[in-house]
Amino acid sequence: MALPVPAPDRTALITGASSGIGAELARQLASRGHGVTLVARREDRLRSLAEDLSSRHNVRAEVLAVDLTDLDARTSLPDRLESLGLEAAVLVNNAGFSTSGPVAKSDPAKEVAMIRTDVEAVAHLCSLFLPAMVRHDAGGILNVASTAAFQPLPGQSGYGACKAFVLSYTHGLRGELHGTKVAATVLCPGPVQTEFATTAGFTAADEAMMPGFMWVPAADVARQAIDGLASNRAVVIPGTANKMAAMSGYLTPRSVLVPMLARRHPSLHQHEPG
Ligand SMILES: NC(=O)c1ccc[n+]([C@@H]2O[C@H](COP(=O)([O-])OP(=O)(O)OC[C@H]3O[C@@H](n4cnc5c(N)ncnc54)[C@H](OP(=O)(O)O)[C@@H]3O)[C@@H](O)[C@H]2O)c1
Repeated sequence: MALPVPAPDRTALITGASSGIGAELARQLASRGHGVTLVARREDRLRSLAEDLSSRHNVRAEVLAVDLTDLDARTSLPDRLESLGLEAAVLVNNAGFSTSGPVAKSDPAKEVAMIRTDVEAVAHLCSLFLPAMVRHDAGGILNVASTAAFQPLPGQSGYGACKAFVLSYTHGLRGELHGTKVAATVLCPGPVQTEFATTAGFTAADEAMMPGFMWVPAADVARQAIDGLASNRAVVIPGTANKMAAMSGYLTPRSVLVPMLARRHPSLHQHEPG
């Protein structure tokens, strides 16, 4: 199965394209000739990426500034695309962030914003854009989860659960799409150098706890993800060490794994008394 052939009225809508993995996914798709529609809150960043992509790859690059926690703003996306004369041939649900620290000390509003962005928006945009793909019997959905999807993650409990949703949801979608020419792939990266860690509240010392061999550059992650989507792979986990970590996280009994992860999570140590 291949991705739909690029056409002037087709676009790849990429959420979270103002930074990190999302910007690289947009670069990958544009370099393969796909028109792109870049979605995030920071419009200035989206505009400069759109200009770069359209001049470098001679593709149409549109910008839609949207806060994905906003239900109405999400609901308006198909109409906004239609008014640009575009239909989403590819949907990349990449936008996301993590909180960190124990739930008992969490900011309730931030936890809810994370679930709206990492879970609600993913399911909502799939519901909005998948019907047309199925009607045309062509399309591709790339949902971005994490290796955190394969096991509970004390210290980022909400985030781990959000990503487990995205993993399970995408597997479910694939079952529904079997026999169609609509691809669905879930990308599960390990650590990637982006703005993610800063947003989650991790320090450079926290990041250094993650061994160097687990880090994969965002451009490599994006290339493997789009290759995987184009061949309708179920799951893409960039990097051998991350594949092994995901497998062991999935298979290790929770009674052994969860206390060990809780002991090692930097955000839980910061919050220890004394
Ligand atoms: N980096 C990692 O180590 C890592 C590992 C595994 C999985 N991931 C996942 O990879 C995805 C991309 O993360 P990244 O590493 O590239 O992080 P990043 O550099 O922080 O990028 C996050 C993107 O999400 C967008 N976003 C966040 N909240 C949003 C909202 N309410 N509305 C619209 N857009 C929003 C941000 O744009 P604006 O701020 O402009 O809105 C930004 O473009 C996320 O789903 C993340 O969970 C990352």
